[in-house]
Amino acid sequence: MTPQPKPEDRFSFGLWTVGWTARDMFGEATRPPLDPVEAVHRLAELGAYGITFHDDDLVPFGSSDGDRAKIITSFKKALDETGLVVPMVTTNTFFHPVFKDGAFTANDRSVRRFALRKILRNLDLGAELGARTFVFWGGREGAESHAGKDVRAALDRYREGLDLLAQYVEDQGYGLRFAIEPKPNEPRGDILLPTVGHALAFIETLEHRDMVGVNPEVGHEQMAGLNFAHGIAQALWQGKLFHIDLNGQTGPRFDQDLIFGHGDLLNAFALVDLLENGGPSGGPAYDGPRHFDYKPARTEDREGVWASAAANMETYLLLKERAAEFRADPAVHEALEASKVAELSVPTLTDTESYADLLRDRSAFEDFGPDAAGHPGYGYAHLNQLAVRHLIGVGK
Ligand code: GCO
Ligand code: MN
Ligand code: MN
Repeated sequence: MTPQPKPEDRFSFGLWTVGWTARDMFGEATRPPLDPVEAVHRLAELGAYGITFHDDDLVPFGSSDGDRAKIITSFKKALDETGLVVPMVTTNTFFHPVFKDGAFTANDRSVRRFALRKILRNLDLGAELGARTFVFWGGREGAESHAGKDVRAALDRYREGLDLLAQYVEDQGYGLRFAIEPKPNEPRGDILLPTVGHALAFIETLEHRDMVGVNPEVGHEQMAGLNFAHGIAQALWQGKLFHIDLNGQTGPRFDQDLIFGHGDLLNAFALVDLLENGGPSGGPAYDGPRHFDYKPARTEDREGVWASAAANMETYLLLKERAAEFRADPAVHEALEASKVAELSVPTLTDTESYADLLRDRSAFEDFGPDAAGHPGYGYAHLNQLAVRHLIGVGK
């Protein structure tokens, strides 16, 4: 029996994912445009709870105010009819030629001012639709040349823009939180804030740092050769996992945007185990939307699109089941014990000890036997094999 997604699972999809017409660098679209109203209905039928969008996915760039109002009204009607919510909204600051050198960080100041106005208008829409998170993916904030972009000035402008927008949200009482989405490259040769770590460090320099976190995407960290589950663990540790983009990727290459789990499956298992079982008492470590940002392959027709949307949710739920079995398995408990995993949570010094006490403790150094302590193995190979067994369904 395959698990059926339910709204309580909090699965959400970008309108630009299922709506992608599959035009790429090398070929024409292979699918017709998808009406946002149809997307809402189909996703609700499949068991999703949310839909997200860039302003221009819903309202084409350059639409008149009248057309914009009409589109928003029919979209809201579809939301009301289905109960689907809009947990996150984002702004397209990369598609139109005006953004070819970036939005927050374009060298041309008038472009930066236009970008801020475009985002401010979309913040109003996000708040109106009840969104809780506003994502910033700076796909065009970057460079291909060395001298053409003053990176430190660009970071000043990035910060200036986010500070201004955060102030606006606070003044309006919108209750939105910001989530920065890192990516190392594509479409720019090099993108600013390329990884979760860069973004986390940058956030600490912001005026409204408390309302800014990250929206890491599986494939983006893996394009940089990084361990996604580790990046998520650090974002959680810093209280900054505000949103997440789930998809699949097979190592450092172009952004594949595969279905979740259809890339590095073992890391996807580690990720779901962390999100669902990594909380302080073994429960979920993250309670936000499980948002899929993938691209249905260019080979798929419309039905293939919905099959791929369902596959994302099914894979997540299957991994959640496997991870629960892994955590409940007595053999895993024994292996965790043998690997001393829980011991890492014990502080290295007691509450009352200082470095002076450590210096006085002969058992810590003078009488310590590093050779003996360096002898036993940690048993991680066995522990990992138990994870692999559960993942491929032969754990029990
Ligand atoms: C990409 C990005 C985008 C963003 C989206 C939301 O690589 O194209 O992942 O899909 O997630 O723009 O801000
Ligand atoms: Mn991507
Ligand atoms: Mn993304």
